[in-house]
Formats: sequence, C-alpha cells, structure tokens
Amino acid sequence: MPHPTAPSAAPPAVHDGLVLEPRDVRFDWAQLPLHWIPDEPMATHTINVLHLLLPEGERWFVRVFKDALPMIRDEQLREEVLGFIGQESIHAEAHQEVLDHLLAQGLDPRPYLRQISWLFQRILGDKPHLTEHQRRENIIERVAFVAAIEHFTAFLGDWVLNSPGLDQAKADPTMLDLLRWHGAEEVEHRSVAFDLMVHLDPGYPRRIRGMAVSGPLLVHLWVRGVRFLLAADPTLQGRIRPTWREARRHSRRGLLPDPMRSIRSGLRYLRPGYHPTQEGSSSQALAYLATSPAARAAAVR
Ligand SMILES: [Fe+2]
Ligand SMILES: [Fe+2]
Repeated sequence: MPHPTAPSAAPPAVHDGLVLEPRDVRFDWAQLPLHWIPDEPMATHTINVLHLLLPEGERWFVRVFKDALPMIRDEQLREEVLGFIGQESIHAEAHQEVLDHLLAQGLDPRPYLRQISWLFQRILGDKPHLTEHQRRENIIERVAFVAAIEHFTAFLGDWVLNSPGLDQAKADPTMLDLLRWHGAEEVEHRSVAFDLMVHLDPGYPRRIRGMAVSGPLLVHLWVRGVRFLLAADPTLQGRIRPTWREARRHSRRGLLPDPMRSIRSGLRYLRPGYHPTQEGSSSQALAYLATSPAARAAAVR
C-alpha cells in the first residue's frame, strides 16, 4: 500500500470545511487475549501503552480545549474544536474499557495510571491563583503541548492505517478496529490543535516549545509504560525486558512504528512551513471509517 506521509510543497488552507463527527463506538473485549498479537508480548504491550496514556491524556485535551473555547474568534475553528472535544471524549472512554479488561486478566495497570493522572491533573492541570493574563498564557502553552502530541497521534494513526504486518501477525480484529477507528479520527482531526495554537499565538517559539516539552515527555512515558506492562504481565513474570533493538526488529516486521521514523516525523513539525494536513491522508481515514465495524455500528445506533 502506498504510504501517503510525504510532505507536499505548499501548506494547504487552514480551514477546508472540516466537519468532525463524534462516532459513538462500542467494543466487546470479552474475548480479547492478553497478548492480542499472538506470541508477541513486547509488541502487544508497546501498543498497549496507548491504553495507559490516552484516557487521562485525552480527558486533559478536552479540559484544555474547553478552557480555550472563550478565546476563539473564528466560528469555523470553534466548530472544529467542539468536534475535536466530542471525538477525544469518546476515545478516552474506549481505551478506558481496555484498562478494565487488563485488570480483569490479572494485569493491574493502576500503579502506572496513578502517575499519569498526577501528571495530567496536577502538573499539567489548571493552575489556581493566576492572573487573567497568566491564565491565558497558561492555556495557550497547554494548547501548544496538545498540538505537538496531536502530531504524534496523527503519525501513529497514519501508521496503523498502513500496517498490514498487524493483520499478517493475526492481531485481534476488535483491537485492530479500535486502533484504526481511533487512528482514522486522529488523522481526520489532525489540524485542529495546531490551528487553534496558531489562532491563539501565531509565533514560532510557541510551536517549538510545545514539541520540546511534549516530544521527550512522550518518549519517556512510552518507555516507562512498556517496562511497566512487561513487568506487571502475570504470564511473563518480568522475563522480557524491552530494548530499542527489539523495537526496531518489530518495526521491520510491521508490528510497531519505526522509532527513527517517529523521531524524523517529530523533526518535521519544527519546519517553519509545516502544517498537519501535509501528513497522512484524510481520504484514507474517511475510507476506513466508512468500513470500520465499530463506526458502522455506531452510525445505525
Ligand atoms: Fe484521540
Ligand atoms: Fe486527537
């Protein structure tokens, strides 16, 4: 399948008539094996880190964007932000259900989740006692963090939509649908956080700061998350330790994104002429959403 991530020459217009529809999907995890990529615990748990980070992370996106709503002076952008809030709220709940399933299978994610909720609620949360000017600055700064993270969620969404290796490895079809439905919506709404950041502060330093904080933080949380899950997996008892070499080996088989490609993608975000619509393919995302079992079931509900 051709990979549509090559940057195009000219940045497209910021608004392209984007209408974001929250799809009220449901998944049944009753039959999900603990290692849902059969015999691939490291690849399974590397992707499972998404379930650890996203419920708290996406609820935080929603809080930040709700705080930013009164600052928006563009009706089209406001509509997009509202659609984004609707989609991210559903994403958070969908991943939360996987966490509940992990716990039922004897893998207790709560020690790691406590750290994540401390990060998003205390460190990156709303700060009381700020002046009006400081509060506005704080909201824009957090929008810039979200915009940088959304670059990676779109990158991962594009990857998972173009990852036949997971099908060849016989990954669980319900989990694949969750990842591809979510990935497709990430590609679909990939420009919203960036456009909001630029609307509130068009300055280049804000964008750089957003990536300088979010990029390394994301790598750190991911590495910790993989180590945590492999150690907490009751069937492994700490026998597998993740390494970058193993991650690259899995990426060559199409089970994980290539770490080097992920870093190069992060660097593209720093180019002055960057816009998220240069990455990924909206038509491919919408084509997946038209066939996703969960999205189709949501459409007739
Ligand atoms: Fe999301
Ligand atoms: Fe998103």
